[in-house]
Order: sequence, then C-alpha cells, then structure tokens
Amino acid sequence: MSDETLVLSTIEGPVAILTLNRPQALNALSPALIDALIRHLEHCDNDDTIRVIIITGAGRAFAAGADIKAMADATPIDMLTTDMIARWARIAAVRKPVIAAVNGFALGGGCELAMMCDIILASETAQFGQPEINIGIIPGAGGTQRLTRAIGPYRAMEMVLTGATISAQEAYAYGLVNRVCPPDSLLDEARRLAQTIAAKPPLAVRLAKEAVRAAAETTVREGLAIELRNFYLLFASADQKEGMRAFIEKRTANFSGR
Ligand code: HXC
Repeated sequence: MSDETLVLSTIEGPVAILTLNRPQALNALSPALIDALIRHLEHCDNDDTIRVIIITGAGRAFAAGADIKAMADATPIDMLTTDMIARWARIAAVRKPVIAAVNGFALGGGCELAMMCDIILASETAQFGQPEINIGIIPGAGGTQRLTRAIGPYRAMEMVLTGATISAQEAYAYGLVNRVCPPDSLLDEARRLAQTIAAKPPLAVRLAKEAVRAAAETTVREGLAIELRNFYLLFASADQKEGMRAFIEKRTANFSGR
C-alpha cells in the first residue's frame, strides 16, 4: 500500500477527519504511517479553514501499536540513529484541537496516540492497553507518563506491568475517555463535538488548548503563568471584542478568527 493511502483525509467544512488506513495490520503504526499522519496533521494545522481534527481508524482497530514487525530486529543503535519515536512529539504539538474517535483496539503506541489527542471518544467495542511488557519492552511514546497522569499511578502501574487491556467502559470509569458511544454513532458524535468547537473563536480555542495542556506538562506555577498570559493576550483579538459586544447587545457573535 502506498504512503498516500496509509492515512485518508476527509474535509467536512472546518473539520478534518483523518483515518488510519492499514486495517489488514490493525493500523499498526509503521514509520511510514506515522510520517503520513504527521504530514496530514501539520497540513491541517497550517490550513486556516480547518479548525478541528478527528483521528480514527479503519476496520476493527484504532491502532494496535507501533509496528512490531518493523522493530523486531532493530538494535539500540538503529533506534538511536533513526530516533523513530522522537517524531511522535509532532503529533502532540498540533495547535488545533484533536479528537480521537477510538473505534477498536488502542494498544501500545495506539493508546499513546489517543492520549496525544485532546479529547477521547470511544466506541463500546474499543479496548485500551499498554501491552508492551508482553513483548519485552515498555511504552515509549508517553504511555508511562500520560497514562499515569490520566488515570493515576496505581491503575497505570497495573496496566503497564500486566499488559492487560481495559474495556471502553473501564476506560470511561478511569477517566481516560470522555464518553462511550455505540459503534455506529461514534463518528457522528465526534463530528458533532468537532463542529461545536469549530464554531468557537479559534484564537481562544488555540490558547485554551495550550493552557490546559500546560496543566499536564508543567508545574502549577508555570501553568498559571501560561493561563494568565493567554487570557491577557486574547484582549488583543477582534473576537474578544466581538464576543463581549455580542453578549451585551444580546445577539449571536460573528467570529472572524482574528
Ligand atoms: C505489527 C500487527 C500489530 C502490531 C496486529 N498486527 N498488531 N502487526 N505490529 N502492533 C497484525 C498481525 O500480525 C496480523 O497480521 C494482523 O495484524 C491481525 O492481527 P491478529 O493478531 O491476527 O488479530 P487478533 O487475533 O484479533 O488479535 C488482535 C490483537 C493482536 C490482540 C490486537 O493483534 C495483538 O496483540 N497485537 C499486538 C498488540 C501490541 O503488542 N501492541 C504494542 C506494540 S509495541 P498477519 O499478517 O499475521 O495477518 C508498541 C510500542 C510503542 O506499540 C512504543 C512507542 C511508539
């Protein structure tokens, strides 16, 4: 399968839907697939007409992890020189909101990919896990850190040490997913949510995402400073003036994105 088809992109107005498309390998995240995903994400991030991105998977998986077959014979020097995992940071660095619509297996790197997104919706058939321990490695794209912050150290430790998967309902109970949807309505629910966010003033959305992210990635003191800077900065935007004037004039705001 050529690189062009590893990730399918559908644009629906301000919403881009990116579909991981290697279903015969349960969307195993080969380097080529990750590169294609990054290309699409960065294109969307730089396109002013797109405001929210959804990532989902074709077939019965969101993604069953990094491609084991591509890593099996690697040496530490291969891993170091290609620094294959470092580029995953570009996924987490996307400035626009990214919604994961997890339709099936989200294992290993697949679970880590979902956790790089901002909101996680899960199908009732989704399964989450960090099974790396079963193949002699550990999570390498944030699984020990983001999972621990998301669900707490004891549950994360059990998942990482046993490699056991959890159901969508358990993931919901743990606070790992925002909600669980019937499989047939997962994408529509993601679309609805994406359209709601897409209607908000984009500069405020961007700076809100940055500030919320800071809560998980910095100290409280640094996070509060980022929040305050972004709060003040938005008073330079036309959309802040428009939003507040519209409230006072009891009309719907017409946001320009400036
Ligand atoms: C490569 C994979 C794969 C993977 C599945 N496949 N997962 N190939 N890498 N991670 C392939 C299988 O080899 C098989 O190909 C096809 O997809 C269908 O999978 P089956 O195993 O036949 O399906 P099933 O019996 O339903 O089992 C589903 C499964 C199992 C439970 C999800 O496939 C599984 O355990 N996969 C590996 C999960 C895992 O360990 N993930 C972590 C990877 S390490 P063929 O050609 O045989 O039909 C990782 C590290 C991240 O993610 C580090 C940072 C990036």
